[in-house]
Amino acid sequence: MRATERLSAQFEGARFPLFTAATARENGAMSQEQWTAVDRYITDLLVPSDPALESTLRASVEGGLPAINVAPNQGKFLAMLAQIQKAQNILEIGTLGGYSTIWLARALSAGGRLITLEADPAHANVARANIANAGLAGVVDLRLGPALETLPQIAAEGLGPFDFIFIDADKPAYPEYFEWAMKLSKRGSLIIADNIIRQGGVIDPNHEDPRVHGVRRFNELVAAEPRVSATAIQTVGSKGYDGFVMALVIAEP
Ligand code: SAH
Ligand code: DHB
Ligand code: MG
Repeated sequence: MRATERLSAQFEGARFPLFTAATARENGAMSQEQWTAVDRYITDLLVPSDPALESTLRASVEGGLPAINVAPNQGKFLAMLAQIQKAQNILEIGTLGGYSTIWLARALSAGGRLITLEADPAHANVARANIANAGLAGVVDLRLGPALETLPQIAAEGLGPFDFIFIDADKPAYPEYFEWAMKLSKRGSLIIADNIIRQGGVIDPNHEDPRVHGVRRFNELVAAEPRVSATAIQTVGSKGYDGFVMALVIAEP
């Protein structure tokens, strides 16, 4: 008998089992195990393994990068959205080792280009090698520097508007990234933001984590923006409990 069950058993006549923080943690661990197993099932069935993507993940681990890339089935999901969008021009904010970059760059329509923004030089070096190894050096333009510095340059160079924009860098700056995404969009552009649920933390207005605060302000900006039609989807899987926001630009910004 587990400790929590022993405790419950002591409360004879109690209508409900006694749930403790330990029970919640155990249940959470069980869910994570199941979500990971189901993600593996989905990926084995529908997301064929690929030498360039696999070596990207290997090189990212070896390079000491945090394992916070999108999951394989999420990468394919993003790529399919870009394909549906017939994207010729993609902007990604937050490259890491280039895993999502490679998924998205492969989804470009013929002659398309992808610009990806990364602040950390070590991440950028790993990503450049991975992108070249995937045969995508000719279509991917990696810009090193804080995105709030490289975004104005991209605008000044007239590189927009983008058909597809993936926001996945530092969460406190998401509100500013949304403003830039709007400036770099046209009617029909699709803006996707990762990590907007944060294990459900997003519904807590007093959350102490500045990342949750940034994501909440981002969601509020999206909600208040009449030039987009937006929704959000909660996800569970190998990356835990999180989600995406999708905003379709429906008016000329
Ligand atoms: N899109 C990637 C994961 C990105 S993780 C994938 O799914 O494979 C977030 C990345 O954003 C990290 O590499 C981090 O270094 C980068 N980052 C953090 N702050 C940034 C900033 N201000 N400007 C640009 N990139 C930033
Ligand atoms: C974190 C960042 C991400 O982009 C992500 O997908 C998961 C986690 C993080 O900073 O913890
Ligand atoms: Mg992310």
